[in-house]
Amino acid sequence: MTDATPRKRLLIRTWGCQMNVYDSARMADVLAPLGYAPTEAVEEADMVILNTCHIREKATEKVFSDLGRLREAKRERGGEMVIAVAGCVAQAEGAEITARAPWVDIVLGPQSYHRLPEMVARASRAAGAVIETDFPAEDKFDHLPETTAPQGVTAFLTVQEGCDKFCSFCVVPYTRGSEYSRPAAAIVTEAERLVSLGARELTLLGQNVNAWHGEGPDGRAWTLGRLVRRLAEIPGLARIRYTTSHPRDMDDDLIAAHGDTPALMPFLHLPVQSGSDRILKAMNRGHTADDYRRLVDRLRAARPDLALSTDIIAGHPGESEADHAATLALIRDIGFAQAFSFKYSARPGTPAATMAGQVEEAVKDARLAEIQALLRDQQTAFNRSRAGMVADVLVTGPGRHPGQMAGRTPWLNPVHFDGPESLAGQVVPVKIVAGNPNSLSGVLAAPATPSARERPAA
Ligand code: SAH
Ligand code: SF4
Ligand code: F3S
Repeated sequence: MTDATPRKRLLIRTWGCQMNVYDSARMADVLAPLGYAPTEAVEEADMVILNTCHIREKATEKVFSDLGRLREAKRERGGEMVIAVAGCVAQAEGAEITARAPWVDIVLGPQSYHRLPEMVARASRAAGAVIETDFPAEDKFDHLPETTAPQGVTAFLTVQEGCDKFCSFCVVPYTRGSEYSRPAAAIVTEAERLVSLGARELTLLGQNVNAWHGEGPDGRAWTLGRLVRRLAEIPGLARIRYTTSHPRDMDDDLIAAHGDTPALMPFLHLPVQSGSDRILKAMNRGHTADDYRRLVDRLRAARPDLALSTDIIAGHPGESEADHAATLALIRDIGFAQAFSFKYSARPGTPAATMAGQVEEAVKDARLAEIQALLRDQQTAFNRSRAGMVADVLVTGPGRHPGQMAGRTPWLNPVHFDGPESLAGQVVPVKIVAGNPNSLSGVLAAPATPSARERPAA
């Protein structure tokens, strides 16, 4: 970009999973050479991208209400606003978007982000919307520019996309396409780059991240455990996490990596969805409740302080009171540190949407409330159990109050403590004094003398 390039403003709104967060950052990277700089204010936005989520009906409806408000904003700017809809709703409902919201200029699916500059140019000439929702054979990652933006202390890195599992209830295989793993070398290069730009913790992302596989630089077939060990060698990288994993793809090497790779944090999001074998079968999850219990046992044997998080769906078609009770029993058996739980939402085109035995809304509400009360108690208990410990805290930045800093424990709890701003980016010992339902508070346990491996790269 030269000085003569006009400055334009880009607003990106992001819903859904962390992969969308990563994608939004990459869309900003792609548009930066065209002169687009980020803004939060819709009134000054020359371009607005809604990066959308299709996972549940509520998420999808939010997009259409937002588009209604954007129509007004565009009118107030005399039409001088490019409106783009990206993400999983764009992929699944491209035609409906252009029909219901003809003021949308661009509709693009998650595999087309590298084409954005060309689409923006086409949109300025086209009468109607420009649409790209193919699954092009070429690798979009090869066509996306490397990020140059300064990174926060924590950064996301997509290593795998798509899903071939076809769980009965889920739209992801349709919106993100089939499973694809990025090559190991490209991932290592991007990880090194993110660390050189300031990241100290990387979260490897994928819809089925532990299905990642590829040829390593040594010519051998790598799975995620090997990749994690390689990334752990990057100087300056203090912490590695990965999400979201599927119980079926948890191999021996990855479990072992939890025990032998200190940079791999002792926190794992491992969705189970239900504790009933009958429902797990109807969901096409490919494992039983006891398979999950045994898997957790093996993980905890490798890493005794491992904290677990999960996803639960209340009221999948066919779910009886006994099935619901089995889910509560599984939750009690495992003891989750954190969890997300949802009411089953029928999604067009998925097998579960037309299954017999759809559960009434009121029943789903009641079951979800019960599940959430139990999970909330477990989270509070977990947080309270941290009190008295000295935890390694990765300091992410200033806290809410003056003189306060914020960070994360190895188990992903947010922590607040008093300390100087110079600690940002360091891993420091913090004595946890209180465990609250959603966060911890602590005090610096010792003057900050980070060990060599925990010192920031710069
Ligand atoms: N790949 C991950 C999950 C991706 S979707 C996995 O296999 O577990 C994130 C979560 O949304 C899912 O774990 C599930 O709990 C929830 N979800 C997906 N589809 C849903 C639906 N139709 N209704 C309610 N919750 C749903
Ligand atoms: Fe959806 Fe199942 Fe694939 Fe997860 S594994 S993304 S829940 S189809
Ligand atoms: Fe939503 Fe698509 Fe992620 S449907 S959860 S944004 S993969």
